[in-house]
Amino acid sequence: MVVRSVDLRSDTVTRPTDAMREAMASAEVDDDILGYDPTARHLEEEMAKMMGKEAALFVPSGTMANLICVMVHCEVRGSEVILGDNSHIHVYENGGISTIGGVHPKTIKNEEDGTMDLEAIEAAIRDPKGSTFYPSTRLICLENTHANSGGRCLSAEYTDSVGEIAKRHGLKLHIDGARLFNASIALGVPVNRLVEAADSVSVCLSKGLGAPVGTVIVGSSGFIEKAKRLRKTLGGGMRQIGVLCAAALVALQENLPKLQFDHKKAKLLAEGLNQMKGIRINVAAVETNMIFMDMEDGSRLTAEKLRKCLTECGILVLPGNSPRIRMVVHHQITTSDVHYTLSCLQQAVQMIQEPSLN
Ligand SMILES: Cc1ncc(COP(=O)(O)O)c(C=O)c1O
Repeated sequence: MVVRSVDLRSDTVTRPTDAMREAMASAEVDDDILGYDPTARHLEEEMAKMMGKEAALFVPSGTMANLICVMVHCEVRGSEVILGDNSHIHVYENGGISTIGGVHPKTIKNEEDGTMDLEAIEAAIRDPKGSTFYPSTRLICLENTHANSGGRCLSAEYTDSVGEIAKRHGLKLHIDGARLFNASIALGVPVNRLVEAADSVSVCLSKGLGAPVGTVIVGSSGFIEKAKRLRKTLGGGMRQIGVLCAAALVALQENLPKLQFDHKKAKLLAEGLNQMKGIRINVAAVETNMIFMDMEDGSRLTAEKLRKCLTECGILVLPGNSPRIRMVVHHQITTSDVHYTLSCLQQAVQMIQEPSLN
């Protein structure tokens, strides 16, 4: 019988801490659609200040945050956005920018480190002289950290370079910063510096920070006014959201300082996996809290077999038929959980590689 559970599916699986639940229970609340919820105001002011932007808006999810931002920047019909072919907005958000926003995506290859080649970005910008035929480029989107690249960080300098391209061509820059705080901690660069060049940023509270719900959009006051209208249009206006924002404020206080330990635990896990025969992992690419592991060509190991062994040990990873296994560390994963995971995997690898010994 499995008695232990180690949940490495995502950093979105965390449970609210006791302090969060207490803060939720005692939160001062009012109607946020009418603009009176004091706890929401407090969180939004705090986030705007941290990000170095004029204003902020709490929205239910990262997906809605990105959609709102793209739609505000691309409010003119026939707009096009340049974004990574492996970006969350492009791959996992139901194509909402097209189906709901009417915005045309122009994808650029995401490199292994989550960046897009600067020359490729510039070359993708439509020539306004061709507007009889082409959509009009209005926006560039970046993602920091870049999830599908394994939580890699975009540097402030890289983001500045993209911002310069955007400025030169009269475009806006949006950053999907679902895990921006992870990037900030890993790079040792304040969040406001990482997003200096951006016109808007969406920052999730419910990923590495461990709050139960919510994402905050930051930008200029005028931008946030427009975002607020769209949030209502999309059904994201909510009433007494102070209960959610109270938990998010605790997450900022309690969990932000712990991100560095999540990164250390992810590294420990990656280093341990790197010792195992048949597993391929780029330890240097583990910059934050995510790990992708592959199986060596010709090995008896398969992701399917390993997933089955992990499940038997109570270790949860996302199901599916991908040949890679993703593991995500969060504040509710302990160092002992990491050691337990490594020892279960070691046994599984041995059993699969050398079945005659078992
Ligand atoms: C990089 C990134 N952006 C956006 C999102 C969307 O967030 P949500 O699940 O809150 O809609 C996610 C979700 O995991 C994500 O990883």
